[in-house]
Amino acid sequence: MLKSVRAAITGFGSYLPTKILSNADLERLVDTNDEWIVQRTGIRERRVAAVGESSATMAAEAGKRACANAGVDPKEVDLVICASITPETICPSTACFVQRDLGCKPAAAFDLSAACSGFVYSLSVARGLIESGQFKKCLVIGTETLSRFTDYTDRGSCIIFGDGAGAVLLQPTEEANKGIQYTVLKADGDGFDYIITPAGGSRLPASHETVDQKMHFLKMRGREVYKFAIEKMQWLMEDCMNACGLSVEDVDLVVPHQVNIRIIESATSKLKFPIDKVYVNIDRFGNTSAASIPIALEEAQRLGRMKPGSTVLLAAFGAGLTWAGAVIKV
Ligand code: UT7
Repeated sequence: MLKSVRAAITGFGSYLPTKILSNADLERLVDTNDEWIVQRTGIRERRVAAVGESSATMAAEAGKRACANAGVDPKEVDLVICASITPETICPSTACFVQRDLGCKPAAAFDLSAACSGFVYSLSVARGLIESGQFKKCLVIGTETLSRFTDYTDRGSCIIFGDGAGAVLLQPTEEANKGIQYTVLKADGDGFDYIITPAGGSRLPASHETVDQKMHFLKMRGREVYKFAIEKMQWLMEDCMNACGLSVEDVDLVVPHQVNIRIIESATSKLKFPIDKVYVNIDRFGNTSAASIPIALEEAQRLGRMKPGSTVLLAAFGAGLTWAGAVIKV
């Protein structure tokens, strides 16, 4: 009898630029202060890409590290998916730059755009492609250079964003108790303008006017996104646990999208998750959109917060509006 195949994470990698942008640095740019930022978001500092670093260079480095962590030669990778809202170029995909850098020709390569939910969306797509038998070594990468799309005169948004990349390598396994157990993907396009980069696409191509009006930067209706985020974060965790028959005790670690400590605490405390079961690194990296969950996963694995056999719950939300969750067995 044919055994069913699951997609298991066999390697974790990340890349964070070395340059730090602290709250004190932001105080010199906009009318804000460290106390407000820490109290309202939990963020103390974030990373900013240096000249020469970009979404593809950071993604390639994170991808190489995930391969090294798995003991797999990057040349053996047969699929690269990059999730990003700050791609290397509009055309071609960031994933094609990464594939070239990894030297894994002719691996399939494409980008997936689902904002901060992009990594979990990509994980779900890769899971299906591995379970179908079409691919065997799949790099799923979240990568963002948000500093290049942030308006550092807008205190309502510039305080939260940071740069970085995180990656996982997925491979097939026949062990039922390992790998991705469940994914859920949702969207509501009515909320398209809650978080939006208004210009630079076919809707509003680049012009002198769009540049003058700063329409190539991310615009965010923070307070409205906040309400949506709290509701969806809780819904995602409940849905994931119900679908997999898990109680809070059965979940070893929750890795939420790192956007605001108040959103994370509100959702997890309502479900009575002890805080030591929730992974938080927002204080050091801010909101890195699609990269936030894989960066946190790599760190959690390296620091021993997840071990073989651990049950890990992922929950993400972001522009679109989109929201997505997953349950993985490490
Ligand atoms: O990853 C993509 C998804 N994005 C999100 O999930 C973002 C979700 N939203 C948030 O995290 C929060 O809405 C923010 C952190 C962006 C803003 O926090 P908030 O508690 O919602 O602040 P607010 O916009 O309601 O503003 C409260 C007050 C206002 O002053 P008044 O009108 O009460 O006098 C703002 O002008 O705080 C003021 N304010 C600031 N003060 C100091 C807004 N930004 C700042 C700032 N420094 N940076």
